[in-house]
Amino acid sequence: MQSEYRKIYDGSMQEPEGFWAAAATAIDWYKPWDKVFDPYAGQYGLWFTGAECNTCYNCLDRHVEGGRADQAALIYDSPITNSQKTYTYRELRDEVQTFAAVLSDKGIQKGDRVIIYMPMIPEAVIAMLACARIGAIHSVVFGGFAPNELATRINDATPKLIISASCGIEPGRIIAYKPLLDKALELADFKPDNCIIVQRPMEPASLIAGRDHDWTESIAAARAAGKKADCVPVLATDPLYILYTSGTTGEPKGVVRDNGGHMVALKWSMKNIYDVDPGEVYWAASDVGWVVGHSYIVYAPLLHGCTSILFEGKPVGTPDAGVFWRVISEHNVVSLFTAPTAFRAIKKEDPAGALIKDYDLSKFRTLYLAGERADPDTLQWAETQLGVPVIDHWWQTETGWAIAANPLGLGPLPIKHGSPTVAMPGYDVRILDEQCHEMPNGETGAISIKLPLPPSCLPTLWNNDARFRESYLDEFPGYYKTADAGYIDDDGYIYVMSRTDDIINVAGHRLSTGAMEEVVAAHPDVAECAVVGIADQLKGQVPAGFFVLNSGVNRAASEIEREVVQLVREKIGPVAAFKIALPVARLPKTRSGKILRGTIRKIADGETYKMPATIDDPAILDEIASVLKDRGIPA
Ligand code: COA
Ligand code: AMP
Repeated sequence: MQSEYRKIYDGSMQEPEGFWAAAATAIDWYKPWDKVFDPYAGQYGLWFTGAECNTCYNCLDRHVEGGRADQAALIYDSPITNSQKTYTYRELRDEVQTFAAVLSDKGIQKGDRVIIYMPMIPEAVIAMLACARIGAIHSVVFGGFAPNELATRINDATPKLIISASCGIEPGRIIAYKPLLDKALELADFKPDNCIIVQRPMEPASLIAGRDHDWTESIAAARAAGKKADCVPVLATDPLYILYTSGTTGEPKGVVRDNGGHMVALKWSMKNIYDVDPGEVYWAASDVGWVVGHSYIVYAPLLHGCTSILFEGKPVGTPDAGVFWRVISEHNVVSLFTAPTAFRAIKKEDPAGALIKDYDLSKFRTLYLAGERADPDTLQWAETQLGVPVIDHWWQTETGWAIAANPLGLGPLPIKHGSPTVAMPGYDVRILDEQCHEMPNGETGAISIKLPLPPSCLPTLWNNDARFRESYLDEFPGYYKTADAGYIDDDGYIYVMSRTDDIINVAGHRLSTGAMEEVVAAHPDVAECAVVGIADQLKGQVPAGFFVLNSGVNRAASEIEREVVQLVREKIGPVAAFKIALPVARLPKTRSGKILRGTIRKIADGETYKMPATIDDPAILDEIASVLKDRGIPA
């Protein structure tokens, strides 16, 4: 089939309002919009101003009323606890409306914030949708973050209530979440009124009387009293959620997602990008703590009337590298979306793909990858082993859906390994030089998006319009700065090569090396430090820290090294995967005192590098290379 992409994309550029108004007919609204797009509202304009809607209604009630009541909405598959549970649309709606009533009883109203700090259990999805139902703004915090990170988010979002679980389960160990939550609440300046805790049998938590409430008991009481919360109409431009993401400093940025534009873009993406029909089974193997989990475990599949898989496990080790194929065949998954790192992990354990042959994957049509650069090796391996198209697509927490993809529903475009293909409707992607001039095809520069951004993209940062403008809009006036560098080829294919800031992608998880430097520098014996992302065969990148000791410190450097590693784990969390901390005599700097992080990274990755013209003392680079060599880096 000839792809309709070009026609559709050009239409979205020439008539953006007509394009998105047509897409918006797939959503139920309480009140239509005054304007499809108001360029004078918000920071760069707002979509669907004046419209009223409810995201939970469109995810659940609409399908229950429309004939999908008995279709599975959510399948919880947890190889790590050896359990499964399926919720039909009716059952999920019932759970959500009851839990929403519990929230209302605790005083939660439209616009209030609720933090969700949970493992991958159905209650996390129920909590998100219950907030959406009553117009409360959820903020999910990934379970692998430490109390300190949770406390930062509590202070910024000022939630009236926090929902958590007694524990999460990682291979070989139980992570007690409740003590982490208690610690975060101790650290935070802001204190919520209540916490609701899901008690898991593997490790129940002790609850603090008056503040902590048991999820099951709260639901049972609401159900016994016949309480159910109705969907509350909210403005399309009201926030649905805040999702904190790493910025260039230790302070995470609260990305705001609105209700209306988000629904419109996500619903559009399900057929046109993922080529999935209502009633089919869709699986995003991510975590609800990340944007992929928000968009493609929870909201998009449900908006589209699909069955979504909630997977509590790992691609390997739960119990083996065949678990993805088991889930696909057992639940008839048609599309899987995950990060390349998951496939690198599988490939490492089962290079010949022997386990794939144990399962019937005949219903499986497409694999989608995002979250980090998809290395051509992994892509090719997946294509060969699975015999289905493997589609790399590029997006960010800030956008909530793909900026570039191969939109299979419009007819596939030729795949070019190394490129996430072409810009999606509404995204006017340009490559700019430092003076904000457009660069010729094939030349690398700052990947930018000409304003306005399409629906679903962040309208601002939570409570911080100034930081939004400064982070994204100020550097290239009239454009959104993606902070990714890359180029566009003559066919319009986009290549995303690297970040232009200090963000690194570790196993598909977005982390700031600047935030890690703040933690390392806070060690009392450390005079100065640098953290860079270095290549890793499994995780894509891992952080490596280099630190100089204060003069006069006479403890063993190895002891300080262990403390530094522990400090990052304690302050940022295990998800940082910070395991390399190297004591060095000096750090390489320019004559003006800037640490040459890029050069350090190149040495660690075994890349050739040009001696920076402004380097203060070139001998330091040899010292760094020698310290790395002693640790077997590069491998
Ligand atoms: N709660 C508590 N700790 C967590 C956690 C959670 N929800 N998630 C991860 N961690 C811990 C891990 O146990 C690990 O701890 P360790 O240092 O003691 O081993 C650490 O954080 C790092 O986790 P991770 O980077 O996930 O490494 P891993 O070795 O456990 O697993 C992969 C590696 C590739 C298997 C895993 O990252 C994966 O499945 N990735 C899939 C893609 C994905 O989820 N991408 C997200 C965006 S699409
Ligand atoms: P996150 O906000 O966690 O989704 O991370 C977004 C960042 O991940 C982007 O800015 C890119 O640097 C990187 N990224 C995501 N998808 C891709 C991709 N397909 N190719 C290259 N980089 C990607």
